[in-house]
Amino acid sequence: MSDRSPTADDLALYERAREVRERAYAPYSEFPVGAVQITEDGRAFEGVNVENGSFGLTICAERSAFVRAVSEGVRRFSTIGVATHDSARTGSPCGACRQFMSEFGLDLRVVYLRDGEVVAEPLSALLPAAFELRS
Ligand code: THU
Repeated sequence: MSDRSPTADDLALYERAREVRERAYAPYSEFPVGAVQITEDGRAFEGVNVENGSFGLTICAERSAFVRAVSEGVRRFSTIGVATHDSARTGSPCGACRQFMSEFGLDLRVVYLRDGEVVAEPLSALLPAAFELRS
């Protein structure tokens, strides 16, 4: 059994993701999501889900945050906090986002709600046997 106990910083990050979630554009699902990406050098990049009337074009909050960070030249990340709808007992990143994030390293800490508790664990635990184009 792995230790998923969050630190005080992890809990603060999760609360920040909940605040960021207020800016989600989710008129179709009414399921807002917020994400805050902390870089290795301590900067923060925030993202929300952005939905589209052509549903498949929707982008998740996690990928929004990554796209912002990488567009600013950042590729080294430490922790991402994700907050989905408060009605959810578990709000983990979707499979597509796990793969997307793995491009930048499986050591990334992911802070999210699992069975009603905020937990922190490495992306490697959420995406075992990750696809790699070059290994
Ligand atoms: N969503 C995210 O933003 N992140 C995830 O990891 C899973 C799902 C969004 C997409 C869509 O706007 C809404 O949640 C419902 O699926």
